[in-house]
Amino acid sequence: MSETLPEAYLGPQRVFSGVQPSGALHLGNYLGALVKFVALQERMECIYCVVDMHAITLWQDPAALASQTREIAAAYIAAGVDPTRAIIFPQSAVSGHAELAWIFNCVARIGWLDRMTQFKEKTGKNKQGASVGLYTYPVLQAADILLYKATHVPVGEDQKQHLELTRDIAGKFNNDFNAPGFFPLTEPMIEGPGARVMSLRDGQAKMSKSDPSDQSRINLLDDADTISQKIRRARTDPAPLPEAVAGLSNRPEAANLVGIYAAIAGMTDQQVLDRFGGKGFGEFKPALADLMVDRLAPVSDRMRRLIADPAEIDRILADGAARARAIAEPILEETRRIVGYVKL
Ligand code: TRP
Repeated sequence: MSETLPEAYLGPQRVFSGVQPSGALHLGNYLGALVKFVALQERMECIYCVVDMHAITLWQDPAALASQTREIAAAYIAAGVDPTRAIIFPQSAVSGHAELAWIFNCVARIGWLDRMTQFKEKTGKNKQGASVGLYTYPVLQAADILLYKATHVPVGEDQKQHLELTRDIAGKFNNDFNAPGFFPLTEPMIEGPGARVMSLRDGQAKMSKSDPSDQSRINLLDDADTISQKIRRARTDPAPLPEAVAGLSNRPEAANLVGIYAAIAGMTDQQVLDRFGGKGFGEFKPALADLMVDRLAPVSDRMRRLIADPAEIDRILADGAARARAIAEPILEETRRIVGYVKL
């Protein structure tokens, strides 16, 4: 056996991703995550988690946490994730996440976590007042992924650093415990047309659940009038749309709206400009709003119907949790043995 060359991971390919139940889902989540989740289930084993344990790193109202957890599950299904193929479940229902996170807390280094930009962004100057959970959040994320030996993780650009940390943890675990190739070095899947949907109020900021302004985002449950009104009021500049993509370079708000149109229509930015170049926002915005309503209305209708039947959602989540446990348990069992826990 080679001591120096890391051995390749030879297990099956598997997709894992998670969404936090910490607020309403929006267009950025839909285009950046849900649409990808649906496409991937056709060709790989997929596990889609509602990461309620991550959500509580910031205070969550308990009743709201439960209903938002069901709402994210409903959004997955309404967007087209098939719960008989993909696994949909809440993180807290599989205790292996917490158990593996503890082991990884002992593998990851404080220096690695000190470099995490998201923690710094979320805490700002008030690091002392943040929960310890928020600090080790990326370690739990690594546990989510590696509990299933997931090889691929569809996520937004902002999660790149957490995926690098996941690889560092996998590599150090495999190395420290002399278990070459035990955990895979997971690849992020970031590319895609909806990878970066920006705020409607500020083309430099990501569309976000936590933005205090509801006008900054299109929520999946917004009705047609609300969508049209938000697009009409979306911030833009006074110039007409350019003829070529290069003309969008210093116009973040225009670039965002064109990018959103392209992502929904399945076109390139240039194809959108071929149609709307030279036209003003007075013409482009209503076309964008109509396109958005056509695409989102069936999703929000399905979502509303599912939310009206929480018992059915819970049945789906319980089934998903059982299937998730069945994959996780042998991996966890082997991990305990590698670490040296007494087997009783
Ligand atoms: N941190 C991710 C986010 O905020 C959510 C998440 C938690 C996740 N665990 C994960 C994403 C595992 C992918 C894989 O978007």
